Amino acid sequence: MEKDIKRVYISEEQLAEGVEKIARSLSDDYKDKRPLMVCILKGSIVFFSDLIRKMDIGLDIDFLKASSYGAQTFSSGVVNIKQDLTADISGRHVVLVEDIIDSGRTLSILKEYFAKRNPASVKICTLLDKPMRRVTALEPDYKAFDIDDEFVVGYGLDFNEKYRNLPYVGILKEEAYK
Ligand code: IMP
Ligand code: MG
Repeated sequence: MEKDIKRVYISEEQLAEGVEKIARSLSDDYKDKRPLMVCILKGSIVFFSDLIRKMDIGLDIDFLKASSYGAQTFSSGVVNIKQDLTADISGRHVVLVEDIIDSGRTLSILKEYFAKRNPASVKICTLLDKPMRRVTALEPDYKAFDIDDEFVVGYGLDFNEKYRNLPYVGILKEEAYK
């Protein structure tokens, strides 16, 4: 895997710091609210599992699998719910946990989908953000890092299902996906 990485973009230490910062904000904001933390599969699992372990408040977890990519490096704008939540979210404070926001299409659609189920609130938490790529008005409520317009992998993020288990976020060499 390492040979396909152009350079380390966010190191393990930087990731840990970013995650800790968000976990602290969430713990303050959701104290006594018992949030429902929703892991958006598969890309968020590494971030999600680190994040919830740094939160020192009562919470619930659930999982949702959405897909919009296929073997491409851009979002199609068509979001399929492949696996839905098991929890009833009415009256709950929901936090959607994403790995990265790019065009914003995936989360705009998901946020709407969630809002229809009468939650008390829906907020968005992302590890990475590519603000210059946005084509929707979507803004995350919590984010750890802004990044440039580069295709990154690792710490849960994949290209064609590979590289998710790299412990850092790295920039993929162009020849690895072109
Ligand atoms: P959006 O709908 O364009 O915002 O796409 C968001 C989704 O695209 C993320 O959940 C990722 O699965 C994927 N994605 C966007 N940029 C990258 C990247 O640089 N590396 C890996 N996956 C990415
Ligand atoms: Mg994803």
